[in-house]
Amino acid sequence: MLRPLVAGNWKMHLTVEEGLQLLQVYRARLEPLAARVDIVVLPPAVTLWPAAAVLRGSPIQLGAQNTGWEDEGPFTGEISPGMLAGWCPYVLIGHSERRQLFHEPDQWINLKLRAAVRHGLKPILAVGETLEEHDAGQTDRVVTGQVTAALDGSHRDWAESLSVAYEPVWAIGTGRAATPEYANGVMARIRRLLREEFASAAAGIRVLYGGSVTAENAADLMAQPEIDGALVGGASLKPDAFTAIVAAAAATASPV
Ligand code: 13P
Repeated sequence: MLRPLVAGNWKMHLTVEEGLQLLQVYRARLEPLAARVDIVVLPPAVTLWPAAAVLRGSPIQLGAQNTGWEDEGPFTGEISPGMLAGWCPYVLIGHSERRQLFHEPDQWINLKLRAAVRHGLKPILAVGETLEEHDAGQTDRVVTGQVTAALDGSHRDWAESLSVAYEPVWAIGTGRAATPEYANGVMARIRRLLREEFASAAAGIRVLYGGSVTAENAADLMAQPEIDGALVGGASLKPDAFTAIVAAAAATASPV
């Protein structure tokens, strides 16, 4: 199996000071698990730079929750991928909150992916269906459309840095995670799409599950063959829960 990746998306939580304190706790708690798991934290943009200093020398890696796609220019409020390159290795692209609340269309997500790869960042592409789409039996169509649109114009070498997170919107922040079997089925579909796009190189792309991952359900999710890790929201703000989730991923990892 692939080396697991567990990413903690803090969303719009914690002041800079609170965030840096949490990172100190995570250094102490999570670093022993980092031999078996790639651990990424995604704090708010304002916390990224001081967080890089707190994480210097740590195997815990940093990621941004979003990026623009232009290198620079009159784009008030945006951060360019070039501003992250070299010190903030990961970037989340296409989170459902960006898609829904900020109306980011597939075309922007594609532009962001292209720009992130061009700058040597490791994108985590998030996809997933809403409750209405789920109930209407449209999961396959929606997820296929999102993945295909995001990867439009991609090259084989994207596979080296890309991860995909399947986050059913109805499972985010609701306490109602997808069942491991359901998630595994959609993720198998995503992996088939990745194989169509990247051929054998797709085998190295990690596909993560996100949506109400907890200390309690992490092990069952992680035991599924298609699940290579987790994208964690609420539980990533709680040291005990996040440590247990990372430990569950470590337990499924091949010995180093
Ligand atoms: P929760 O883990 O809080 O459901 O959030 C999931 C998520 O959106 C991570 O990106």
